[in-house]
Amino acid sequence: MRLTDHEKAMLDGQHGAARARAMDLLVRYGEALGAERLVETNNVAGAFNASTPSIRHIAEQGFDKVFSELNLDSDETVEIPRMAVPTCQLITGIDNDNWEVQGVDAGLAELQKQSERYLGQRGVNLMATCTPYQVGNVPVKGEHCAWMESSAVIYCNSVLGARTNVEGKESTGAAALTGRIPYWGYHLPENRFGSHLIELDIEVDDMMDWGLLGYFIGYAVEENIPVLKGASHQPTLIKLKHFGAAAASSGGVEMYHIPGVTPEADTLEAAFGPRSAVETIRYGAKERRETYEKIQSATDRKVDFIMLGCPHNSIEQMELIAHLLEGRKIHPDVQLWVHTPRAIRQVADRSGYCDIISAAGGVVMSDTCPAISRRLPPGVRVIATDSAKQAHYLPAIAKVQGWFGSVTDCVEAAVAGEWRGGVQ
Ligand code: F3S
Repeated sequence: MRLTDHEKAMLDGQHGAARARAMDLLVRYGEALGAERLVETNNVAGAFNASTPSIRHIAEQGFDKVFSELNLDSDETVEIPRMAVPTCQLITGIDNDNWEVQGVDAGLAELQKQSERYLGQRGVNLMATCTPYQVGNVPVKGEHCAWMESSAVIYCNSVLGARTNVEGKESTGAAALTGRIPYWGYHLPENRFGSHLIELDIEVDDMMDWGLLGYFIGYAVEENIPVLKGASHQPTLIKLKHFGAAAASSGGVEMYHIPGVTPEADTLEAAFGPRSAVETIRYGAKERRETYEKIQSATDRKVDFIMLGCPHNSIEQMELIAHLLEGRKIHPDVQLWVHTPRAIRQVADRSGYCDIISAAGGVVMSDTCPAISRRLPPGVRVIATDSAKQAHYLPAIAKVQGWFGSVTDCVEAAVAGEWRGGVQ
């Protein structure tokens, strides 16, 4: 791999042991991928904090040990300096306020807080959400990033036109300390053109339909780049957030184009560039219904847990949930958790939405989600969610049955204690 003088100096230890470890990791990683060089990044989003029981015994040896081992893949503990470039923490395992509701013990909750103080002192911005783009981390078109979290990566590449692969704990740790990431995959312009044409025969408008479409496309194209034709309604952040999260869950989609909407595809021709579609796939009423049926893993209509906010809710979604719940009470046998980034929670609090949700019996959570924390209320058997991603993962992770539907279907299930959703 070709290195600049500054990169060689970091590798040689002239900028400290931690940056030398980080460069060594990036060179090994890049060479394994066939990258010829590194690229500068000024935007890292990773997972650095200590919030799982398995990290506890490592944390007893100090947070430098945690970072060295988990974020630099180093057996030797090195002193971790300030991050070299803007870096944010993605979602964590613990809600710093609602940890008791999650069933987290006080020691682990305190460990997360201590870990966050350590990280903050080193310049890690504790956004604590899988949607950093909703709370101020919005890279510009063409910007090279080093992000983890599949739903954030697909949004970054497709909607923002910034460039990232799905990175890991180690590569984001090394990128944060060096401002470098291997130049391969989606960093290269020639790898960002479409491969599959998706022709929409039906209107796709509301959030549930965008989730269903994403879920269908993920299965259809797996890890390729779909290009959507026939999307007649202008999608919003919320819809594309759900669409991308679903496509990244059922397949491994990391980028898509919607001509006239996403920034690297003014036209269908621009979306494919020098390539032509290897396959044309149609999505109509039949595919929509089949996808809806495929995503449901539940048969029992008596629900006991409703999860809203995967990916984390925007403020508009918080308002809608509050509106649907105003003056109502959720069923005594049901628990409702609503997830939103902590920064958005402040706005939701100030706007009175959290009070309405709490008065109805729901819990507003930040910093985490059930799939990441692997924590649900005790005894849950049947869940309902408005997220295709959560419906995909949670039944497998938590051995529960899952219903997927609209926000309205989920709120009605929370109130009735029974799933009554469906599609035409
Ligand atoms: Fe975010 Fe958790 Fe969903 S990380 S995308 S809320 S599974």
